[in-house]
Amino acid sequence: MARKTLRVSKIKDGTVIDHISSGHALDVLKILGVAGRVKGVVTVAMNVPSKIHGTKDMVKVEGRELNSKEVDKIALLAPHATINIVRNYRVVEKQRVKLPDAIRGIVRCANPACVSNSDEPVQPTFYVDKADPLRIRCHYCGYIMEKKDVLKQF
Ligand code: CTP
Ligand code: ZN
Repeated sequence: MARKTLRVSKIKDGTVIDHISSGHALDVLKILGVAGRVKGVVTVAMNVPSKIHGTKDMVKVEGRELNSKEVDKIALLAPHATINIVRNYRVVEKQRVKLPDAIRGIVRCANPACVSNSDEPVQPTFYVDKADPLRIRCHYCGYIMEKKDVLKQF
């Protein structure tokens, strides 16, 4: 069934973060730092019909390609997302984000007494207890962090 109009236009250069679970688009904007002042066009679509997941959210950022740290953060909060790099209207790179078993160096432990918060040279490390909704456990002190705790740091 052909749609009469295009819901969101294609972009020339930039990044399309697609297949975000419905309701997570604002988390992605926060990670990208575009919740405040930005240059360039950012398009957000929420609850768009999806072939795979029922509905999805989508974020298009023009004139910007994401770095690996940003992709790692998106994996934490939108584990089903696809990152598409677009150059001259074509998708030149498509990457499904993947939540690793161990999360290193992206999030700090929220327990102030944790050894990873001392002057010791230890890299904050967490294990994924549950992907969605997120629950991660500190390798050093066992402290459990949820999505809202992680978001505070982004
Ligand atoms: N897109 C865009 N601008 C372009 C090219 C693509 O905004 N110049 C968007 C498409 O609208 C789509 C996403 O980037 O939301 C991925 O594009 P594409 O790989 O062409 O679509 P699909 O094959 O449907 O992707 P997938 O298989 O990942 O669902
Ligand atoms: Zn800890």
